Amino acid sequence: MGQDKKFSRTLVTSALPYANGEIHLGHLAGAYLPADIYVRFLRMRGEEVLYICGSDEFGVPITLTAEKEGITPKELVDRNHASIKKSFEGFGMSFDNFSQTSREIHTETAQAFFSDLHGQGLFKQKTTDQYYSPTQDRFLPDRYIEGKCPKCKTEGARGGECESCLATFSSTELIDPHSVLDNSPLELRPTTHWFLPMGDWQEKLSAYIDDHPEWKDNVKQYCRGYFDSGLQDRAMTRDLGWGVPVPLPDHEGKVMFVWFEAPVGYISSTREWAAAQGDPEAWKTWWQDPGTRLVHFIGKDNIFFHAMLFPAMLMAHSEDFVVADNVPANEFLNLEGQKLSTSRGFAVWLPEFLEKFQADPLRYTLARNLPETRDMNFTWEGFQARNNNELGNNFGNLINRVFTFIHKFFDGKVPEWSEEMMTDMDRQALDEVSADLAKWAGHLEKFEIKAAMEACFHAGQVGNRYFDESAPFRTRKTDLERCGHSLGVIIQILRMLALMLAPVVPFGMDKLWSWLGMESDLWHGGWTEGNRDIPGGRPLGTPEILFPRLDDELIQPEIERLARMLEE
Ligand code: 2FM
Ligand code: ZN
Repeated sequence: MGQDKKFSRTLVTSALPYANGEIHLGHLAGAYLPADIYVRFLRMRGEEVLYICGSDEFGVPITLTAEKEGITPKELVDRNHASIKKSFEGFGMSFDNFSQTSREIHTETAQAFFSDLHGQGLFKQKTTDQYYSPTQDRFLPDRYIEGKCPKCKTEGARGGECESCLATFSSTELIDPHSVLDNSPLELRPTTHWFLPMGDWQEKLSAYIDDHPEWKDNVKQYCRGYFDSGLQDRAMTRDLGWGVPVPLPDHEGKVMFVWFEAPVGYISSTREWAAAQGDPEAWKTWWQDPGTRLVHFIGKDNIFFHAMLFPAMLMAHSEDFVVADNVPANEFLNLEGQKLSTSRGFAVWLPEFLEKFQADPLRYTLARNLPETRDMNFTWEGFQARNNNELGNNFGNLINRVFTFIHKFFDGKVPEWSEEMMTDMDRQALDEVSADLAKWAGHLEKFEIKAAMEACFHAGQVGNRYFDESAPFRTRKTDLERCGHSLGVIIQILRMLALMLAPVVPFGMDKLWSWLGMESDLWHGGWTEGNRDIPGGRPLGTPEILFPRLDDELIQPEIERLARMLEE
């Protein structure tokens, strides 16, 4: 079974964001922050891990936006790619490579992939009727066509998938279809495309899902729903000007379906990374050696493509590829109790956020509220409270109090402490925090980030309780040795807290790690065993306030901005 396999390296991907707009909080909570936390956790443990992403730059939405803005699709994606990359950096995303699907290496990789499947005769060529716009003189695939969802009958569904019930279907199944470009009538015309007969892979895919009982229920249930109705042939090509050209003669004007080539983008991005390392073949170890554990972090709207289509493609390829060992898909994040709407601008956009606030409090708040098993809600008040009450009071104040005290009364060096002086209270505090650290790791291994955060928060409470009860501020006057010992104990606790908080608030914890005088590189095996190994006498860094309070003056305008938007 998947979960019992032993792997020697982990390849993590986050869904390639569409380069047709900015990143908002919904994206972060779905496919990005959880993956970054997981990757940082593995790196801290010294595991071999590669974190791959890039922007998804083909497909109809890009063409649509570029047409609206009067620029070329390439201009649009280059601009958006640069901006997405910058805001991800500001947010602390630690990709090993962030590529673009409009680069040559991707065209090459995707074409080779397509040719491999085609060469084995795995596609079916079929001529079917598709919508053609006489006014535009072209076929209008997918998102150019709007109508009622054939499954849930919601208005405004676009060809391909329904945002409301998440069904996927072909645009010819839409009820009352019309062009989103000019509302002009559409006509059906025959066109020839290459189809992947997904039904041929159903047995293998079903065995694959059964082999992974440890996957999240939402993912397994979603896949099984498809098996019940039987997997259909899916067109892997489109009539479009903007995409990866189909690498076959006489296929002028035909490009690959974006969901065929975009996941191959994970491979292209790995190839690009390998080339940059000076070892162009190194990508093969990551994709073809069975010792690789592949994990795709996605939002729930991407389940079909990552748990069914892409694994089928990888199984179909004539070379041996690894398939995902897990596909942790998240539900959606709502904003102030409402669905996010990018078309109405009802969202919190990352670049604007980062102009006013730091990344750590946002990462922390989202990590506490991740839509792991159900939709969750982000509110600005909640953000303020998480920052002030939890990051600030539970963690920041403790860190600050301890460092300030030691600088004031112990010359900025870890006070002498010893095993002999340990009281039951000391041991209990250290044991409780060590137990939290172990729980935290156990949860992270299973992608249960919220539960891991609970353990981390509890450890902070234990630290505060210990500080209050061991009362160095009192023993300083009565028993300086005991006072120093207690502070030495708290320093060990702070090291464990730094580990638990690091993947979530890396900017702050990088600082704490250096203030603690840790020599190991936190992100390369910084987590060593032994929870009592910061010796007395070690000089400590001078702390600063890690998580400043967020006052109403900063938060209220954001609440009002969203409220106004809802009124409009
Ligand atoms: O849903 C999305 O935002 C897609 N751009 C995700 C693509 S994931 C991968 F397959 F490329
Ligand atoms: Zn629907």
